[in-house]
Amino acid sequence: MPEFIDSILKEHRIFFPSEEFKRKAIIKSMAEYSKLYKKSVENPEAFWSGMAQQLDWLKKWDVVLRNDAGFFKWFEGGYLNVSCNCLDRIIKSGKKDKIAFIWEPESGESKTYTYGQLLKEVCRFANVLKKKGVQRGHVVEIYLPMIPELPIAMLACARIGAIHSVVFAGFSYDALKDRIQDSNAELLITADGSFRNGKVFPLKGNADAALKECPTIKNVVVVKRTGSSVNMQNSRDYWWHELIKEKDIKDFCEPERMHSEESLFILYTSGTTGKPKGILHTQAGYLLYVYQTFKWIFDIKDKDVYFCTADIGWITGHSYIVYGPLSNGATVVMYEGSPTFPKPDRFWRIVEKHKVTIFYTAPTAIRALAKEGDEWPSRCNLSSLRLLGTVGEPINPEAWVWYHKVIGKDKCPVVDTWWQTETGGILITPLPGATPLKPGSATKPFFGIVADVLREDGSKANADEGGYLVIRNPWPGMLRTVWNNPDRYKHTYFEKFGVYLTGDTAKIDKDGYFWIMGRIDDVIKVAGHRIGSAEVESSLVSHAAVAEAAVVPYPHEIKGQAIYAFVVLKNGIKKNDELKEGLKKHVADHVGPIAKPDKIQFADDLPKTRSGKIMRRILKVIAEGSTDYGNIMTLADPGVVEVLAKNMVK
Ligand code: WT7
Repeated sequence: MPEFIDSILKEHRIFFPSEEFKRKAIIKSMAEYSKLYKKSVENPEAFWSGMAQQLDWLKKWDVVLRNDAGFFKWFEGGYLNVSCNCLDRIIKSGKKDKIAFIWEPESGESKTYTYGQLLKEVCRFANVLKKKGVQRGHVVEIYLPMIPELPIAMLACARIGAIHSVVFAGFSYDALKDRIQDSNAELLITADGSFRNGKVFPLKGNADAALKECPTIKNVVVVKRTGSSVNMQNSRDYWWHELIKEKDIKDFCEPERMHSEESLFILYTSGTTGKPKGILHTQAGYLLYVYQTFKWIFDIKDKDVYFCTADIGWITGHSYIVYGPLSNGATVVMYEGSPTFPKPDRFWRIVEKHKVTIFYTAPTAIRALAKEGDEWPSRCNLSSLRLLGTVGEPINPEAWVWYHKVIGKDKCPVVDTWWQTETGGILITPLPGATPLKPGSATKPFFGIVADVLREDGSKANADEGGYLVIRNPWPGMLRTVWNNPDRYKHTYFEKFGVYLTGDTAKIDKDGYFWIMGRIDDVIKVAGHRIGSAEVESSLVSHAAVAEAAVVPYPHEIKGQAIYAFVVLKNGIKKNDELKEGLKKHVADHVGPIAKPDKIQFADDLPKTRSGKIMRRILKVIAEGSTDYGNIMTLADPGVVEVLAKNMVK
């Protein structure tokens, strides 16, 4: 049983939406929310099939929902195409010349794509994929930075029924290799490099290293982004800009007729083992869920300019940069670089320049930018903003209040949206025109979502009692399985309680507000990114000097959590700072800079049970600088704990 430490500040402030915001909002009051919520959970099938009428179907479904031995199916018998719903359908509604994407590069001029232009680019690239042999049901691996070719490639896959698997461009070759190998992708799309803080990150070099062990990849399409010199392998590697120009590539690509439950994409996420899980999302249910959540939670209007700072390499970007906004015909700002390049006012400059009305970011960015001082945002004109959002980890009330006051000028509601790669879209969230806000709480479940907090024995926790956060009912955006591993799907998510286990702990207060407390598993949230401790540990152990490693999170002012590694060296290896740096670099090179431990402690021994299991729980207490170990008498050698604590890295 994990310990549910009551670390959350007692928070009594409540913020109400302004009368003006309410009046114009799609959902205008708690009364309206409650009425519709009741209907949505009493008869979810009627609710969701009503909502599904808004999409363009090639054929309507026969059954709304079916439980196939624990695997949920939505809208079976229905056919549609996701790219048509994001492009052709919007164009048909008269928005051909509306801007879909405003792309803001790290340096240089921004570039726009109208819905009409985007459709053409998507179709041309879809035709390229087909010409290279990609067929419906094939997996296409995408390893691209935040450039327009990334959403274009995803939508092109959706158009022809290929399954995309995007790997965050900040990951390195081992992480890429593992993901390609698990997905059996057949074509890889990458770039000659990516820009980050003015420096070039060698994407193609990483891809080449990974591909040495990925025999399934037959072709590689390379986008020219940085102009760095790269090695192009004959009859495997092709330039995007050359392929797209070939004479037989047409401006239109007939969309595939996709069954609701065919696969749309795989996105890997960290779990408790070293092997990342391929979370599978399918066509209709996912599209409907991101369409509807985006529409109501971001209260989207035709004139809005929406800016989400996430990377498309994570689920936030899939759902709320690409599929949710486009299916609503929204204008989306997509930014290539880091929040502080060249200066800490970059986000605020972008808001000012493009007159952003809705801004969605992560608590880690808010904390980092708040620390830089109010002068940065106060020098920019942020008056276009009307709504703010946050996602990725719990937001501390002080950061929330800063965001509300300094960025939102006390007039923009803040939607703290709780969800996961697995959930496809937002599950617990305020509705900005209705929900009174409590800083630090994601507030209430979205329509059709029955969320609850359970005790170890499966009984319902009392108000304010911490426990396991579960979702009691299926929803259209939920994951359908773990790619190639249905047993892992059942085991991870349904075995414990028979209802969907989120992996988070939470409590519900007396007003029915949800307060997310943290993870129960070995997932570490570094700056909102989900890092599996096992993935970092395997990387450390792959270093020639390392015999054994255990990594745990510790609280970090900006990142929320950072990684603390306990490392046991092989016999005869000298412990020194140079080796520590070498180990950090090793992890950054192999897994990616985000997985790099901030602190490394050399240890002669790790606390283990008599059966040899490392007790990470105790290591976590040490890394936090506490001595609250709990019972250590079950350890094979309890003396280890004191030695480690004495040498803890501050
Ligand atoms: C985990 C999922 C979902 C998009 C980005 C992360 C944590 C997410 C919140 C929030 C508190 C949050 C949870 C969750 N989390 N949003 N608003 N408040 N915690 O997706 O990488 O799959 O991570 O992020 O721990 O389980 P992900």
